[in-house]
Parts: sequence; structure tokens; C-alpha cells
Amino acid sequence: MSETADDRASEFCRIERERVTIDPFTMVIFGGTGDLSQRKLLPTLYHLCEDQHLPDDFAIISFASSTRTDDEFRAFVRDSLEKYSEGPFSDACWERFSRHLYYVSGSFEDSESYRKLSRRLEEVARPTSEGTKQVIYYLAVPPHFLPGIFERLAFCSSCVLGIDSRLIIEKPFGRDRGSAAALNRTIARSFEERQIYRIDHYLGKETVQNILFFRFANSIYEPLWNRRYIDHVQITVAESLGIENRARFYEQAGVVRDIVQNHMLQILALVAMEPPSSLEADYIRSEKVKVYQTIRPMSGEYIDEFTVRGQYGPGVVQGEDTVGYHDEAMVAKKSTTPTFFAGKFYLDNWRWADVPFYLRTGKRLNRRITEISIHFKQPPLRLFSTTCDIREPNILVLRIQPQEEITLHMGVKHPGMGNQLYPVNMGFNYERDLPGDVHMPLPYERLLIDCMKGDQTLFARQDGIEAMWAVVDPVIERWENTPAPQFPNYPGGSWGPDKAQELLQREGRQWRIV
Ligand code: BG6
Repeated sequence: MSETADDRASEFCRIERERVTIDPFTMVIFGGTGDLSQRKLLPTLYHLCEDQHLPDDFAIISFASSTRTDDEFRAFVRDSLEKYSEGPFSDACWERFSRHLYYVSGSFEDSESYRKLSRRLEEVARPTSEGTKQVIYYLAVPPHFLPGIFERLAFCSSCVLGIDSRLIIEKPFGRDRGSAAALNRTIARSFEERQIYRIDHYLGKETVQNILFFRFANSIYEPLWNRRYIDHVQITVAESLGIENRARFYEQAGVVRDIVQNHMLQILALVAMEPPSSLEADYIRSEKVKVYQTIRPMSGEYIDEFTVRGQYGPGVVQGEDTVGYHDEAMVAKKSTTPTFFAGKFYLDNWRWADVPFYLRTGKRLNRRITEISIHFKQPPLRLFSTTCDIREPNILVLRIQPQEEITLHMGVKHPGMGNQLYPVNMGFNYERDLPGDVHMPLPYERLLIDCMKGDQTLFARQDGIEAMWAVVDPVIERWENTPAPQFPNYPGGSWGPDKAQELLQREGRQWRIV
């Protein structure tokens, strides 16, 4: 009887259901009735409670401007859960969860509101077994509120003194390197770096974390993971959605600030970094910062030649008619905000010298897909003929979403008298290949638990954030200061502007997904 991966796994590898022990905590959500809270934070906290990851003593305080009582807030949360929560709603669980919800109405810009908040904290925050109170301030607010909130929180002595306080800060962190550095300085006046959790939900995705495991738990790939064997790397983050109702944010941000500066550079760092000497947060984060620092700075001429900007026009996405960016609600009719980016990056270090990294992302593309593909070099001598178009026999694909899988594309002999090469795949798929009923935690589940545990590994450090801005600032600046191409320049449902295809074609390559 043949042995399966499951048999081997159950023989030597008992995966225990991990139980995390979380100390009593209070989470204060600034902007606790906003979009992010409704869609992500509150449903995630509810699931954590349902899965019994939360301690008996916890409190969630929403701090927002509208006037509401605790009970009105609870009704609001219940509505949000019914709308946005994945999985069935359970009355029993709601009963347990809702008792921990509180509301403080106030202005982020008024010190008296912070005093009100601190009085509420006094009432509801429970100490840990060591007698300290742990309070997590989750700042789910537009970026312009941040400096004022840091200052007022620091002044509100009863919000921080004698309290183990942590701050979770949503992206985008700043608008460029200068503003990110200024924000970091403001934070550093009152808080220590160990208290700061700059969140990027991509780092909470299982398959993004798996990049490190895959690279460093298997000795066979690492010797090949360099310029001697790799021809180039592609990273695609394609979305089929448009900007939804987020024009106010998106018009200010554009694709580079929204996706490239954070999600894409985080993925690139995990693919390109050196092995850390341990899994401790700072070892991993330091290796990632080194990657950002080795990315070759781009001149204006380089940007003109090797980056592509785009904006979607009307089109058909998965059978549905979609409007162009200009016709989205609250978008200026002549807006030049880019919704598509493609570009070629080089990393100037021994491992990656002269290996191009092609990055591509956009809204309203043909379908939702995030993947990394590592394209290995051709063998030095082509011995075998092929009728198929296998120009690159070995490609390793790490698919992040929608199906989480890893596939190695290879060439084998096609059966018969000839010497024909034939493309086949070897692969691992999370859903198909993992034994039992495996729970894939949603990104926010993992990240909130990590913050409660005090583990910063999956959060960006101050120097990392600034280094990532340093990579993209020249692109944003160049694009803002030179005339945009005729927008829109790609129809919804396509793979972006033709120029993005040309970027690779003129170098004898092509995007893996077209
Ligand atoms: C967010 C961006 O950070 O990531 C959104 O602000 C984008 O514009 C989203 O749609 C994509 O996340 P995911 O997990 O759906 O790939």
C-alpha cells in the first residue's frame, strides 16, 4: 500500500490544536463605529470570543464621535455581525460577547473626551494576575487624526500611567517618508517602540507567513534561491474589485500608497530576505529592513522607462458591467489618481544582483489573485525538443489567494518514441492536502492575538516603514510631477495597460498570468 503525506504526518508530526492564553485586556477602538470596525475588527473579536480565545475578563470600548449608549452600541455591533460576519450567528455566543462591549462618545481632538475615556477605563478594565491593566488602543481612524491622538493620549495620564498600553496603527502610516518619520517622532516622545503595532493585514495571511516556513524549513530550495539559478521574480496582487465606496481615501492615496508601499514590499522582503538567526521579532524585522535598503533607488528616467501607471475605464469584470474610475462616486472627473502599478525593481546585494523583480497590482483587473512566481533559469544546454511553449520549464508559484497553494512547474518526458518534453506540476494545496478540518485564521484574528500576546513579529517596525517609503517616494513624486498618460488606459476586466505587458515582453519575458 502506498504511503500518503497524511500517513507520514500522523506518524511523526502530531499537530496539537494550539491554545493561546491571553491575559485580561481592554481594547479601545478609536473610530469604533467606522467601516473597518464594522467589517473587520468587531467580527474578528466576536470570532475570537466564539473560538474561546479570549479571556473571561476583557472589555471592548468604542470611542467615536456620535452619541450612543452602551446598549445602542451593542445593537449596532449585532447588526454589523449579522451583515459582515463569516459563519452563522450564535445567540449564545452573542450573549457572552455583548456583555463586554462599551461605548464612549467624544472627540479625538478634545482633552475632556480623553478624561471621559479614562473614567470608563477605570470602571471596566480588569487587571492581569500581575496586577497591571493591559489596554490596547486600536487607531482605526483617518491618518490626519493620528498625531493629535498620540499627544492627547500621552497627556491623559490615567490613560497610560500604570497601564501596559499598546497602540495598533492602521495603514497608511504617513503619506511619504518625511511624514512617516515625523509621525514616528511624535509617537516616540510618549511611547516606546515595543508598544507600537503598525498593522499590515497581509502579514496576517497564512500563506504570506508560509513564505518564511517554506524557504527556511526546507533545505532543498535555499541553495537555488539566488542569482545563479533564478532568472527573475514576479509578484502580482490583482483585484477584481474597484475602489468601492472609498473614493475619499483613494483619491488621496492611489495605488502606490495603498498597496505597493506596504503589502507588496512586505511580500518582496519575505521572498528576498536572508535567513534570520532566530524567529524573534527583531531578527526577522531587521532582515526585512535590509532588503528595503538594498532596493536600487530609481531615477526619474528609470521610472519613466520601467514603471507603468494605469487607471481603469469601464469594462466587464466576471460577466458584470463595471464603471470606470472617473464615474465612481466622489471621484473627480479628471482625476489622475492611478489604480494600476507595474514596475521593475533590482536589489543590489550578492544574492540578487541583476535579478529583476517585476511587481504588478491594480484594481478592476480580470480576477482576484495574489501570487509570487520564481522563474528559474533555463538549463545551460537544451537537449530536448518541445512542441509546447515551455520557455521556462521551472517556475515555483506561491499562490497567496484565492486558493492557497504552492506549485512547482517542471518538464518531463512525454511517453512515446520521441524525445518530447512535457510540462507537469507538483503541488501542495492547503485545502486538499492538510489532514482534518484545518482552520485558516483570518488575518485580523492572527494579528489581534499576536498583539494581545505582545508579539511584534508580524508588525512593521519604525525603520522598516520609513525604508519602504524611501523605495516608493521617487515613483509617487515622479508620477505626480509629470503628465499622466491618457486615462483611462485599461478597461475593467483586463490585465492592465498594454505597456505593462510590454515592460516584460521587451526583455523576452511575459507575465505568468495574462
Ligand atoms: C487594503 C487596501 O489594504 O487591502 C484595499 O486598502 C485593498 O484597497 C485590500 O482592496 C486588499 O486586501 P485583500 O486581503 O482583499 O487582498
